[in-house]
Amino acid sequence: MDKIRVVGGVALRGRVETSGAKNAALPAMAATLLTGDAVQLENLPRVRDILTTRDLLEKMGAEAEIREDGTGTFRAGEISSLEAPYELVKTMRASILVLGPLLGRFRKARVSLPGGCAIGARPVNIHLAGLEKMGAVCEVAHGYVEASTAGLTGAYIQMETVTVTGTENLMMAATLADGETVLDNAACEPEVVDLAAMLRAMGAHIEGDGTRTIRIRGVRRLRGCRHRIIPDRIEAGTFAVAGAITRGEVEVANCNPEHLKAVLTQLAQAGAEISIGKDGFRIRGRDPISSKNVTTYPYPAFPTDMQAQYMALMTQGDGIAIITETIFENRFLHALEMIRMGADITVEGRQALVRGGRPLTGAAVLASDLRASASLILAGLVAEGETVIDRVYHLDRGYYRIEDKMAQLGARIERIR
Ligand code: EPZ
Repeated sequence: MDKIRVVGGVALRGRVETSGAKNAALPAMAATLLTGDAVQLENLPRVRDILTTRDLLEKMGAEAEIREDGTGTFRAGEISSLEAPYELVKTMRASILVLGPLLGRFRKARVSLPGGCAIGARPVNIHLAGLEKMGAVCEVAHGYVEASTAGLTGAYIQMETVTVTGTENLMMAATLADGETVLDNAACEPEVVDLAAMLRAMGAHIEGDGTRTIRIRGVRRLRGCRHRIIPDRIEAGTFAVAGAITRGEVEVANCNPEHLKAVLTQLAQAGAEISIGKDGFRIRGRDPISSKNVTTYPYPAFPTDMQAQYMALMTQGDGIAIITETIFENRFLHALEMIRMGADITVEGRQALVRGGRPLTGAAVLASDLRASASLILAGLVAEGETVIDRVYHLDRGYYRIEDKMAQLGARIERIR
């Protein structure tokens, strides 16, 4: 089991390039199931979840090749299995994203229920309710969803909670349904908009992506396309915090600052000096770091995937910051590890009260989920002494060689195999 070792005390300086967004690449790879034609994807991040999805597609009988340069060729010509098996899904809940495409094109699917994870129960009831409104029968038995349909038909779907993959699953299914589907209370994340752009390139009729109401008019079939995955706004935000927390100066390139507005605004309020470019930004960390409250909400507000990273920053704040997590019910596990590093954090349900001004000391800590592991690296960058983070397989699911990118910026960091 790999570990990451960080020795704190260095102000990061330099330029870092953002990779493709994991959470845009996953639905894009699922969307290749919607056609028998070849699909070319570019800017795929070589992270574990992407390789897991490639394995899943191959297991179904599709061709799925991902090259070193981040380009990939996919062709779901002859699908031999309509099943996403438990042993793959349990390592990556986003496998649920094959449900919509399989139902839309093959009218049948058997997908293992993703189950929960460290940050919450992660139900898929809204995915299933939407598919049933479109004429699917979804049976849940033995830990699997068995879904089938005589043919999906367009429907008006009011989604009770904003769900990113729920919106993506239903949008993909609706592209091949008979008639028009309206997704009300849809997610607006850039990853949803990127998927809609890819589906339109495949011949789908989609309007309203990026707003709370998406309209999809079904077509008989979709064709292949070439699509470039958007940059990872969460990786970019993670490096922004790295610059702020170490009081360094970091240029984050190859990203879309528009996708990070709430994060950059929050970091500026917390004292960082930020200048925005066309496809990147520069951040300079300064003293004092101001303690500012934040609440996570669906896009375009401050994202839950940046909450742990922001908490690390607030441990260095000049006062008290209240962090409210409204998306997931158990996303403060990183707080317990930061407390072991000397942070003063009180967790009460969905709120964490972070008293800044106490120096952190390096410690042996445990990663619990993808973004928590990144936040522990950030805390380690500013802690006195050595921090060793265990279970970094969480990190590898969503960050491609983060230690190399951090080392390029001057961090004293290494992977211990
Ligand atoms: C996506 O997860 C992301 N994953 C998550 O990123 C991200 O944290 C999350 O959206 C929120 O932005 C991918 O895109 C692969 P949700 P998703 O459905 O779609 C409830 C990371 O670190 N809900 O938007 O699974 C749910 O319990 C990951 O990369 C239902 O109740 O999240 C949660 O409280 C972590 N019923 C809320 O909605 C449903 O059917 C938002 O979840 C679906 C969701």
